[in-house]
Amino acid sequence: MSFSMYIRALAIAVLVFVPAWSAAQDANNGGDLYFQYCVGCHGMEARGDGTVADVLKVKPADLTGLSARNDGVFPTILVAYRIDGRDPVIAHGGAMPIYGEFLGEPLVATKAPSGQPLLIGQEIADLIAYLETIQE
Ligand code: HEC
Repeated sequence: MSFSMYIRALAIAVLVFVPAWSAAQDANNGGDLYFQYCVGCHGMEARGDGTVADVLKVKPADLTGLSARNDGVFPTILVAYRIDGRDPVIAHGGAMPIYGEFLGEPLVATKAPSGQPLLIGQEIADLIAYLETIQE
């Protein structure tokens, strides 16, 4: 199969499967993951006041204000890329750990608010579903 055929097949697969896969985000599992990996820094209520926040040079972000800080739209791509490390700012070193290595597989297709398809790890998709439920 030529490269362009491969890309076309992939594009069709994404278009066909995105609606089905989008439904497969599990906010409950995302909450469990949050309390496993993120709570120490971001805190019980995700306000950036976890138990280790005091000793960090850079304060963890308040994750209940992600939408509010983005004109009321949940910043799906920013959040996904911050967690999995694709964000170019943190790829070169930042205060926030990168989870792409162990939350990154298997990849699922979801959608950004713009409708743009977004490929992210299943567990990161679940984390995002959880974070969306706690926006103020
Ligand atoms: C070791 C502490 C630490 C852990 C653990 C941690 N974070 Fe963070 N996080 C930070 C810090 C510090 C910042 C703010 C500085 C920055 O943006 O790099 C941040 C920023 C973020 C941002 C960007 C917010 C914004 O408005 O730009 C998101 C999203 C985020 N964290 C989500 C998570 C999730 C989800 C987890 C668990 C999988 C997690 N973090 C685990 C310390 C941590």
